[in-house]
Amino acid sequence: MRYLDRRAFLRAGLAVAGAGLLGECAPNPEIPAGLVLPTDPRVAAVEAGRHATGVVSSHRISAEVAEVDLGGPRVTTWTYGGVLPGAEIRVRAGDTVQADVSSRLPVDTTVHWHGLAIRNDMDGAHAITRNAISPGGVFQYRFIAATPGTHWFHPHVGTQLDRGLYAPLIVEDPGEPGDYDQDWTVVLDDWVDGTGTDPEAVLARLRARRGGMGGMGGMGGSSLGGAVAYPYYLINGRVPAAPVTFTGRPGQRARIRLINAGSDTAFRVALGGGRLRITHTDGMPVRPVDADALVIGMGERYDVLTTLGDGVFPLVALAEGKDAIALALIRTGGGSPPPSSVRPGELAGDVAGYRDLVAAEAVRLPARTPDIEQVIDLTGGMMNYDWGINGQAFDPARRLGVHEGQRVRLTFRNRTMTWHPMHLHGHTFQLDAGPRKDTVIVLPGQTIGCDLNADNPGQWMLHCHNTYHAETGMATILGYRT
Ligand code: C2O
Ligand code: CU
Repeated sequence: MRYLDRRAFLRAGLAVAGAGLLGECAPNPEIPAGLVLPTDPRVAAVEAGRHATGVVSSHRISAEVAEVDLGGPRVTTWTYGGVLPGAEIRVRAGDTVQADVSSRLPVDTTVHWHGLAIRNDMDGAHAITRNAISPGGVFQYRFIAATPGTHWFHPHVGTQLDRGLYAPLIVEDPGEPGDYDQDWTVVLDDWVDGTGTDPEAVLARLRARRGGMGGMGGMGGSSLGGAVAYPYYLINGRVPAAPVTFTGRPGQRARIRLINAGSDTAFRVALGGGRLRITHTDGMPVRPVDADALVIGMGERYDVLTTLGDGVFPLVALAEGKDAIALALIRTGGGSPPPSSVRPGELAGDVAGYRDLVAAEAVRLPARTPDIEQVIDLTGGMMNYDWGINGQAFDPARRLGVHEGQRVRLTFRNRTMTWHPMHLHGHTFQLDAGPRKDTVIVLPGQTIGCDLNADNPGQWMLHCHNTYHAETGMATILGYRT
């Protein structure tokens, strides 16, 4: 019910904004005073200071209901442009992205550009920026894509992300050597929509468990399990029986850009017959690390390099704790493909974790004494489905305050029995002695510290990237104060 309440509130907020345009300025009691709002001149001023190439990359994106073939199963779902994933946007750092997004969905939607330090009024966070696209409507997003790396975009309303509304956004870094022959984007997803149920029904079922048997957080003996058993796990919109195939030549080097667009699934990714050299996480370079496998939470990205062998190789994403896989194939020569249930031994090899990753010099945040610390306790549980931050469900009236120019220390403390991939909009943070990221997995009982520079004024969502946790309350706002 909170969802409906919030939407009703947002409609009221829009009505107030409309009245404001006519000259009657009614204060909105839900928005505390003294904040740098998305409309603040500081937001435009910071955008004007970003390095810009002057190149404008224009896109038309249509959010629409479509029937999609998952490689056997056909589902009716919500898509960008009728395809799954939506068409990749690829620009160079400093280019201006201009995206005219039209909606033929039955409800309001937004587009959030995950991973970009973007101007706040283009962030597409429904609860804050309030430029929702209504059914039949259109909105033009226009912003400088200043943050190189593997990013993506998706809606920020309700459970829409768990339908088919997602697509890659690659920002190329002209300063990067690029020592590879192939550049492949691999989008992972857990799929339920159009299979006789949909994400709203999943959410209703999760809530209905209230008071029932709990303890679903660590299913399958994995600390990274989820609560939703999805019928399908997809790579680039395909089930394992009909996988997408990447082709190259033996000896070539391939850069693989992994994006987890799932809603309730961590994937363990490995390449049968190959090693992975991790070069980036969340778009940010790390000192290269070789591994057999890596784990990627919802919202995270990893870039890996691999040298291609001769034959057909399975790229497998094991759904942690769920006993199912997503699959793609890499073909460089003859041979028959592996069975669609293939579990390469590399999955059980050495799995890289944050402890192995260190930010590359060029992006390491220099040490500095924090001006302010925000402690973010992750709270709630499966039992009551009462996810929250600091013991409280999302409330737009509540902010974690910062001031522009501050060094901010964020301390995540997971007080729950479940893991949470925590994502901050508009910034990247430096994990203590680790990589620089925008989404970090916090395991049950774990405390993780990280630092960021408050250099992008506005109001920014900070939330769990489990769609169902976020929608039921594990979200807050990092809010710049005037
Ligand atoms: Cu990828 Cu707030 O989201
Ligand atoms: Cu969570």
